[in-house]
Amino acid sequence: HNFAVIMAGGVGSRFWPVSTQQNPKQFQDILGCGETLIQSTFRRLKRIVPFNQIYILTNAAYKETVLKQLPEIDEQQLVLEPAMRNTAPCILLAAMKIFKIDSEARMLVAPSDHWIQNMEEFQADMELAFQMAGESDKLVTFGIKPSMPSTGFGYIQYQPSSEEEIYKVDRFIEKPDFQTAVAFLLTGNYLWNSGIFVWKASVILQQFRVYLPVMYLLFSQGEEFYNTEKEQDFVNSEFEKAENISIDYGIIEKAAEVYVIPASFSWNDLGTWGSIQGELPQDTAGNTVVNSRFIARNSEGNIVRTTAEKIVFMEGLKDYMVLEDEGVLLIVPKKKEQEIKLIRQQVMQQYGTQ
Ligand code: GDD
Ligand code: MG
Repeated sequence: HNFAVIMAGGVGSRFWPVSTQQNPKQFQDILGCGETLIQSTFRRLKRIVPFNQIYILTNAAYKETVLKQLPEIDEQQLVLEPAMRNTAPCILLAAMKIFKIDSEARMLVAPSDHWIQNMEEFQADMELAFQMAGESDKLVTFGIKPSMPSTGFGYIQYQPSSEEEIYKVDRFIEKPDFQTAVAFLLTGNYLWNSGIFVWKASVILQQFRVYLPVMYLLFSQGEEFYNTEKEQDFVNSEFEKAENISIDYGIIEKAAEVYVIPASFSWNDLGTWGSIQGELPQDTAGNTVVNSRFIARNSEGNIVRTTAEKIVFMEGLKDYMVLEDEGVLLIVPKKKEQEIKLIRQQVMQQYGTQ
């Protein structure tokens, strides 16, 4: 009864110029580890559910990329969205497809662009979640111990106790502002939402019926087409009518039966360039280098990532990012990494480049 869904339709604009609309970060080997993020996601999930019960939902523009990077999958496992509508619509569509195959199905929903290590721990956490979700109507999330007041995550408030492996969530707050995030960190009983979920297909469908009824009705009209040749035609004509909203704002913040398993695997959302530095080895001066052949003098704490084998010589730079990818070279202080989205917009306006 176990299925998985990989969400792979986002753009990852804070990782520009390496992540672009044509080639978002999930399809790239961001850390230079030999496989792309979606490939490692697929490999991880294959240990937990049969590989032919893993669905990939992505934008139609990435069809060829997905089929090339995941040659094992059948085209039937791929759902192509004609428009970007965030995560609620893609999860609803996947739940309807899966429910039609198996009305008792449990489904794991995973982002495609995270960096996760400790496979055994990951597997154990997922199996626990499948068990919990199978026995009840729980919506299971995985909580990560926060290390800073980031405004890019959902926050999970829960009552910690040492006896249990899974906790009832008191409150789920998606992407709070900075002040609120600081306050959450001070009180201590908050975890970040990892963005991975496990639930029964029937249970999440019921939540959509309650909290996103218009979207539910819209996609219900496709019921007879799901898992048939006519599915893609239905998606092509109706999908873009769906509200653009994430599962976190649309359902998780409002739902009553949300539970959290504090994750025992190591997790990094690879949200910004700075966040990758902790995942990679550094030279003795604290420089992190991906792909490049690098010589540094009097330079420390920098992040350097270029196309393969490019030679980079650096003199006298501290805490800078030097990021090069086809056509764009970006040199920015690390502390300005949140501005990359804006810088990208400016470059696009002026030079039209992606
Ligand atoms: N199929 C599809 N269609 N996938 C999408 C779409 C879409 O329109 N939009 C985003 N995705 C995919 C992304 O590629 C990513 O793998 C995943 O869905 C999550 O989307 P993000 O846009 O990366 O979400 P986020 O990082 O802002 O926030 C979520 O993840 C955080 C942890 O990384 C939330 O769940 C937060 O609560 C959570 O803390
Ligand atoms: Mg994300």
